[in-house]
Amino acid sequence: MSDVTVDLLGMKLQNPTVLPSGILGESLGMLEEAAVKGVGMLITKSITMRPREGYQGPTVIEAVPGGLINAMGLPNPGVEEFAKTYKPKMSGVPVVPSLYGNSVSELRVLSLAIDRLDPPAVEVNLSCPHAGGSSRRKLVAQDPALTAQHIGAVASTTDVPIIAKLSPNVTDIYEIAAAALFAGASAISAVNTFSAIEIDGHFERPVLGNFIGGMSGPAIKPLALAKVTEISLAMRDGRLEEAPIIAYGGASNGEDIAKFLLIGATAVGLGSAVYKRDVDIFSESTDELKVWMKEKGYDDIPAFRGKALEWLESEETPEYGDEAPEDSAFVNMQSPLPKPSEDESEEGEEEDEEDLDEDVEEDDLDEEDLEE
Ligand SMILES: Cc1cc2nc3c(=O)[nH]c(=O)nc-3n(C[C@H](O)[C@H](O)[C@H](O)COP(=O)(O)O)c2cc1C
Repeated sequence: MSDVTVDLLGMKLQNPTVLPSGILGESLGMLEEAAVKGVGMLITKSITMRPREGYQGPTVIEAVPGGLINAMGLPNPGVEEFAKTYKPKMSGVPVVPSLYGNSVSELRVLSLAIDRLDPPAVEVNLSCPHAGGSSRRKLVAQDPALTAQHIGAVASTTDVPIIAKLSPNVTDIYEIAAAALFAGASAISAVNTFSAIEIDGHFERPVLGNFIGGMSGPAIKPLALAKVTEISLAMRDGRLEEAPIIAYGGASNGEDIAKFLLIGATAVGLGSAVYKRDVDIFSESTDELKVWMKEKGYDDIPAFRGKALEWLESEETPEYGDEAPEDSAFVNMQSPLPKPSEDESEEGEEEDEEDLDEDVEEDDLDEEDLEE
């Protein structure tokens, strides 16, 4: 039987599945259900100092197949109410509070209040793309200095492990990860949603009540894989200190979990996919992961964690051909496109050159026109 247990920040998870923040809303009852149904770790809805009502609807839409855009507005009861019902464990599953602060000082006070609840760890949401309403203001996780200040504030108030939740809406995510780890984070979670807007063609306006939102779901999986890969590669190449990565972004079954583990994640969130497969997704996906591991001959997760990174060696890239399974879509993508016959390609080139000459003449005309 494959061993799918995971050691994460001193916690022993029964499997690598995680319920990402906000997916089941504010109700702790829903979290309890996910715990009973076999999730490895729970993250609460992001909690703020004061209650937040959230934005007016629509707050969640399916903009493309498998791609949700949400702008909930971080609705939550505030830390005082949260503290009354919070439990560090539910049915033996660790419950990690997610913290959101409007400023460094607010985050510090919030973190102090949460520390008194004795959580197993805290996740700091530095990356909600719509927390500032429709203002499109800069996110904390888009700036290394702001990231370090926010994580530093939490680190100064608590001894529990800090997970820094990063944004994919940056060029070099590992630089933000470096700032978070430097300032006291013990793990990175990535990614939050991608900034997104959908426009209603009929009413000629943004669809969401908040106008702008964040995209999640299977449609973002390859993008999230790329962002997590960037962090993993930086750790492997010594540009970033080693730390566990909790991966979020489009995973919806056991093989998706395997894919994130193959690029170096330690645990993997199943978020938007819960809306399609319900909370049973956690135990079902764990079973699917076990089947995948058995087929591949892996006894435990460390046996293959980070294995796909080998293909991304900076100095020596393996040849694809013989090593990839013959039936994989990946191989098909590698097969060269049929080449046009030499005569055809030469004709094509001549035509293109003629077109180019015409373009140049037209350009010359334009310039003359302008001079006139
Ligand atoms: C409806 C909804 C609400 C969310 N609320 C939060 C939140 O409160 N805090 C947070 O850090 N992330 C929040 N997220 C982002 C998710 O935690 C996760 O990072 C993202 O959805 C990508 O994972 P997925 O594609 O598996 O859903 C929310 C996502 C959705 C769809």
